[in-house]
Amino acid sequence: MVETDAFIDEAVAGIREEIGDAEAVIALSGGVDSSVAATLAYEAVGDQLTPVYVDTGLMRKGETDQVRETFSFMESLRVVDAADRFFDRLAGVTDPEAKRHAIGEGFIDEFETVAREVDADYLVQGTIYPDRIESEGNIKSHHNVGGLPEVVDFDGIVEPVRDLYKDEVREVARALDLEAVIAERMPFPGPGLAVRVVGEVTPEKAAVAREACHVVEDELEAYEPWQAFAAVIGKATGVKGDNRVHGWVVAVRSVESRDGMTARAQEIDWNTLQRIQSRITGENENVARVLYDVTHKPPATIEYE
Ligand code: XMP
Repeated sequence: MVETDAFIDEAVAGIREEIGDAEAVIALSGGVDSSVAATLAYEAVGDQLTPVYVDTGLMRKGETDQVRETFSFMESLRVVDAADRFFDRLAGVTDPEAKRHAIGEGFIDEFETVAREVDADYLVQGTIYPDRIESEGNIKSHHNVGGLPEVVDFDGIVEPVRDLYKDEVREVARALDLEAVIAERMPFPGPGLAVRVVGEVTPEKAAVAREACHVVEDELEAYEPWQAFAAVIGKATGVKGDNRVHGWVVAVRSVESRDGMTARAQEIDWNTLQRIQSRITGENENVARVLYDVTHKPPATIEYE
């Protein structure tokens, strides 16, 4: 790609020109893409930008605190606690696309409330190149593409990283001195833990997925995966003490990839897998089984839904 510093200068100047004296909003997810877009936009227009972080209850462990800390320099940052409202929306919803839509709509609702409050004219988005082509190809509906512009009547949409691949966004993040944890961070899907829970999303399943994801990220750091996580994929019989139990089945996945379009399942050492298994089942007595996913993309997708 073009030189990073030149990209940043051009992006900041472009945003400033586009937004001018107007008010803007951006949905900050805690992922690399929106963090970079928000930082570029904040550098361009300062507190005219209101970054909105919606805690859907489907975030990674510690993510909300991390976002508060990382972006504490943005005085205009809004953190919205919407977990209860999201679980209400998701109750009884089992179809993957319906789940995505329920989350997308919930998100729009929360975001729209703030956008109206600050009377925002512009929407800044962290859309990257693969999001656009996957959406155009209709492989999956990405809630961070489309939706928002139709609901709120913005004067314009600003997408400073729309032509970049993930690894390029990371380079920009490093150049912007975003903390290493953000720059090196694994991509996290917009619908959050909902795509790591097969079937209905409940607070309990989300909590199992959250803790298990944390264990997997922690244990597999040395493998430098492009993405590593755990998903709650169903229930199966297990045995705890003298009793047979019907507990959660957790699948562990760790992949190498350049941009998420294709991916290879990583070969993980047996002892590491066993440690992951024992931590996940040890931390939650309702988990009966831990599996390792050996499927590449294609034929599987990276996430479960
Ligand atoms: P899949 O599961 O399609 O994922 O192989 C490819 C990459 O995209 C992420 N992903 C999403 N990101 N909204 C997002 O912002 C989504 O709906 C979504 N679905 C998948 C996934 O984590 C992987 O990095």
